[in-house]
Amino acid sequence: MLTRAIPSSAELLPIVGLGTYRGFDVEPSSPAYKQLPAVLRALFEKGGKVIDSSPMYGRAEQSTGELLSIHEPRSPAFLATKVWTRGREEGIAQMEQSFKLLQTDRIDLMQIHNLLDWKTHLPTLRKWKEEGRIRYIGITHYTASAYEEVEAVLKSEPLDFLQINYALDDRGVEKRILPLCRERGVAVICNRPFGGGDLLARLKDKPLPRWAADVRVNSWAQLALKFLLTHSAVTCVIPGTGNPRYMAENAGAGFGPMLTGAQREQLIDVVG
Ligand SMILES: NC(=O)c1ccc[n+]([C@@H]2O[C@H](COP(=O)([O-])OP(=O)(O)OC[C@H]3O[C@@H](n4cnc5c(N)ncnc54)[C@H](OP(=O)(O)O)[C@@H]3O)[C@@H](O)[C@H]2O)c1
Repeated sequence: MLTRAIPSSAELLPIVGLGTYRGFDVEPSSPAYKQLPAVLRALFEKGGKVIDSSPMYGRAEQSTGELLSIHEPRSPAFLATKVWTRGREEGIAQMEQSFKLLQTDRIDLMQIHNLLDWKTHLPTLRKWKEEGRIRYIGITHYTASAYEEVEAVLKSEPLDFLQINYALDDRGVEKRILPLCRERGVAVICNRPFGGGDLLARLKDKPLPRWAADVRVNSWAQLALKFLLTHSAVTCVIPGTGNPRYMAENAGAGFGPMLTGAQREQLIDVVG
């Protein structure tokens, strides 16, 4: 899989990862859970490693930790999770719990989920980064109404990562947020790359462009991801799934040529 450098460290990150919202929030007794080892295998076999979770996603951190320790103990996973609460002590307790649930003593990326109480949590994140408990720090959001605040934080605080909504039919970040990340040396993770699934539902009956095979793409899911990855400010995309077939398909977007400007424009026309 292709990689991109995290600007603050030059460490190379594979460009397609996995989101665990919904897909990994399942009970061990369920049929859905039994599919999850194959999801992780599909990610790793294709050379991916970024796995994104949050205490907001029900059982997702716990499922991730269990599965990595049982099925993939020597996995290359780059673990990203979040703090999503108010208060310094509450934030510390929640992050300590994430270490336990993920069954790890090092989390690669700790993000402040939806900027919730970010001024309180940031000093803890900076201290833990210094101590080596976490390797990178970031903020996340998922909606255009937050872009003003996201921009202000990006301008005022040194950060390693921004995780933000970006999809073929949801391109608001292109205007100011992505250029700002490039200027500030902040890595960008795209969440909701399929608009939670709605984008693919809209595209599913449309024919793929004739040039799809030229860019080594054979589905709308791969094209939608490649559209985002073609933007030079984007470091990684994290489509959410609990389905091994989808994971393998999505990881396939991390190979081959990116799109030309004209191909990008054509895709924008398709979604109107
Ligand atoms: N504020 C935040 O920090 C924030 C907000 C939102 C999301 N996130 C992160 O971003 C990740 C991605 O966002 P998301 O999961 O909300 O939405 P998404 O990735 O845009 O869409 C997920 C949906 O797409 C479906 N899907 C995935 N791959 C597919 C494929 N190849 N073909 C057809 N359908 C496919 C999934 O189906 P199945 O479920 O059947 O697999 C699921 O219903 C999350 O999992 C989470 O880690 C963070």
